Formats: sequence, structure tokens, C-alpha cells
Amino acid sequence: MSQKKRTKIKDILQLAEANVTVTVKGWVRTKRENKNVVFINLNDGSTINNLQIVGDPTKFDEATLKKITTGASLSVVGLLVASQGSGQKFELQAETIDVLGVADPEKFPLQPKKHSLEFLREIAHLRPRTNTFSAILRVRHSMIFAVHKFFHEKGFFNIHTPIITASDAEGAGEMFRVTTLDLDKLPKTEDGKVDFKEDFFEREANLTVSGQLEGELTALALSEIYTFGPTFRAENSNTTRHLAEFWMIEPEMAFYDLEDNMDLAEEMLKYLVTYALENCQEDLAFLEQRAKDEESTKKQEERSELSLLERLRFVADNEFVRLTYTEAIDILRNSNYNKKKKFQYLIDAWGADLQSEHERYLVEKHFKKPVILIDYPKEIKSFYMKQNDDGKTVAAMDILFPGIGEIVGGSQREENYDKLTNRMKELDMDAESMWWFLDTRRFGTVPHSGFGLGFERLMLFVTGMSNIRDVIPFPRTPGNAEF
Ligand code: 4AD
Ligand code: MG
Repeated sequence: MSQKKRTKIKDILQLAEANVTVTVKGWVRTKRENKNVVFINLNDGSTINNLQIVGDPTKFDEATLKKITTGASLSVVGLLVASQGSGQKFELQAETIDVLGVADPEKFPLQPKKHSLEFLREIAHLRPRTNTFSAILRVRHSMIFAVHKFFHEKGFFNIHTPIITASDAEGAGEMFRVTTLDLDKLPKTEDGKVDFKEDFFEREANLTVSGQLEGELTALALSEIYTFGPTFRAENSNTTRHLAEFWMIEPEMAFYDLEDNMDLAEEMLKYLVTYALENCQEDLAFLEQRAKDEESTKKQEERSELSLLERLRFVADNEFVRLTYTEAIDILRNSNYNKKKKFQYLIDAWGADLQSEHERYLVEKHFKKPVILIDYPKEIKSFYMKQNDDGKTVAAMDILFPGIGEIVGGSQREENYDKLTNRMKELDMDAESMWWFLDTRRFGTVPHSGFGLGFERLMLFVTGMSNIRDVIPFPRTPGNAEF
């Protein structure tokens, strides 16, 4: 190992033997010192583990030692030796220490004490320097990688679908507008409306809520594709499970029916969870302990029965329960929660939209397993879903997870041109502007299916965090776009 070139702490801790001179660079987590020795815990983000640096205070000038405080950045050259202390294999005997950047202890907000997650959200620019957030970001990277690995190994092609679109795939009207018009001097048409012909795209444009529609276009050529991109929703829901900007994985497959679709989604979720268990052990061990500490502050009935790692193994090893919306409504209607009015929204009739309390009841109380619900009433689902023969339901599927509720939403798609356009008419949609989408149903249409996995919902499950704002580096929520 060259002396000048930086060695990552992760690689150092994996060395078989000590007695090598190395250069490490990173940020000080803690410093302790007495007359004879100074101990510095250095972290460079390559691993959750710190490298302990020991120095003889008489070998360094006082000014340098003073600048070594929590948060300061250092470059240290020294001899790696077997550690005397417990808890670490090696320590570094410092020969030279360069302070790259100071962090005034009076002003640096991250001190070696437990900060609340709420406080850390206010300093989202610095929170990656904590154990919790660096662990989450490393796991997040592994999950991104595992998503691509899974689909690549299955022969799916990754497609970049547009971020700026003129359509509303979900039809929920929750879009952020994209415009270059001067908001103080809006051009108007004769009947007094904003004249979008004058706008950049010469039409109304917005940030996409889903890559699905373009995904369908390419699946009807390449057979099996997936998108993994940012999606945007201007829904004003201030919950622990909603973001205004989130990442979604959307596979779309020609020649798949609903059952094929469920099989793929279940296989994917198990693969991703297994990948985390096998490749993120140290970070998950830390996050498991963090979750345990958090749980211990909760009331007994709010605690989960399984620990984080047990929950992950449970999902990886068990078959998901599959049932219809109609069966689920019967279970919910007859449940004690409904009878004793423990649900905020009581279930009385078929057709009700399920709230996350109902989804979680099914998963956590009734089945105690992940659940795939299919065949929802068409009124509460999107226009593109395949219409079942009963005239009432569509071939939708939602996957419900413990602690989360809906993690995946998808369906078989309506491939019949007449049925699809009739449904669009019923919903008062402008079919003309979606001529390109409808063309797939006019030319070589095939049965096809797809789904969307909310990446941050997956991250909530894998990390055991309880607020979605904590599993994305810089969250976007109503009133929050600071960093
Ligand atoms: O159920 P959704 O709205 O489905 C679609 O967008 C389809 N076009 C997907 C498809 O079939 N290709 O969203 C899919 C998933 C949800 O199950 C949830 O996990 C996540 O995206 N999601 C959100 N995650 C964070 N914040 C939000 N505001 C979310 N809205 C949906
Ligand atoms: Mg949904």
C-alpha cells in the first residue's frame, strides 16, 4: 500500500495483518486525551466502523491537537498495529496528522450525543455524517444496485422514461407544473384562459407521476423492461409514508397476466430483502439496534413482535398471502377492530377504498404475512387496468407489508382498444391527446402487466426506520425543499 494514497477504512479493517504504514482520511467522531495518549475515532463513510487512531501528544504541536475536534477532517499517516483495546482489530499509531478542515465545537451542530431524528431533518446537509444516516445511505446504494442486478439477470431492459410529460398516468391530478411562462405576465387566449401554446412545450406540461405509460410502449417492443426513476406527486399528504419526490421501480412485461405479475413482484421483493441480509450485515446490525432502542420508548401494544432482522428473514422465507379485495372487505367488516370502532374509517360497504390502517390490520393482525390483494373495484383504481368479466372489478394488485401498508401497486393492463377507450370516456379523459398510448392497442396489442415499487417504502421496510423523510437523502414534502 502506498503511503500517500488514501486507504479506505473499510479496506483497512479487512486486512489480514497489521504492521503496514497507511494514510487514512476522514472526519473525527470523537477525541479523548490525557497526558500520555490521544485517542481519535475517525470515520470516512466507507463503513459504519471507525478506525481508532492513537497518538503520543508530545509528538504533535498543541495547535494541531486543539484543532482535532468532532467533525474536523484529518489526513493521518501511521503504522497499523493490532489493537490493545477491545472492540477493534486494529488501531493506527499516528506519525503525522494534517487537519484538512476544522469544525468549531461551539458552532458544529453534530456532537457525540444522541440527536433526535427531527433535529437531524433540520440539518439534512450534515446528517449523512451520523451512523444512522450513513448506514441508511449505504443500504440505499446496495438496494439500488440489487434492483438493477435482479432485472438484468432476468433479461429485462432498463428504460429511461421522460421526467417531463404532458400526461397524468394515474389520473389523480396531483402534478407539479413545468413552465417557462412569466407568472406575472401570463399570455391569455381569447376566452381568458392561460395560453399554453406560448409555453416552452406549446402545451401544458408537468413532472411525471409514473413512467408506466412510456414503459408500456417499450414493453410492447422489448417484451420485458423496467424503469427506475424519480416521480413527483403534489399530494398534500403529510404522512410518514408520502414524499412529493420519490423513486419508483416500474417493470412492464408483455405476455404476463396478473398471476405472472404477482409472481414477479413477490420474487423481486424477496430477492431485494435477501440481498440486503447478505450484503449489508454491519449496517443492518446497527439499524436493528437503533430500531430496538426506538421501540423501547413505545407502548407495549405499539411495538412490533419481530426485530428488524427477523422481519426481513420472515419476508424472505414466507409465501405472501393472495386474496381478492372482496375477501379482504369481508375480513375487515367482520373484524373486532371494525366492530369495536377501533378503525378511524369503518368498513361498511363493498367499494370502500382501503386506508393504511386496514392494510396494516390485514398484514399485521389477521394474516401476519405480506398480502397481495387483487381484483379491486374499478372505481378506486386507474383507467388503464384490465376490466374483469364481472363488470365491477379490475385486475389490480397491491402488495401490503407490515409496518408500511402498500409497498407495490400494479395490474394487468387493459389491452382491448374499445374497452380502454370506453373507460376513458366514462372518466372524462381526453383520449385524443393520448393517441400514442392507444396506438399500442391498435397495432399488435398483447396481454401485458406491470407494477410500481415505491423505493422509499422498500427502504423503510429494510432499514426499520419509521419516517419516509429519513430514508431519502434530501426529502421533498409540503413546505420542505430546503436542501
Ligand atoms: O400505486 P401507485 O400510484 O402506482 C403507480 O404509479 C403505477 N403507475 C405503478 C405501475 O403499475 N407501474 O404507486 C406505486 C407505488 C406505491 O405502491 C407506493 O409504494 C409508492 O409507489 N408511492 C409513494 N411513495 C412515496 N411517496 C408517495 N407520495 C407515493 N405514492 C406512491
Ligand atoms: Mg397505489
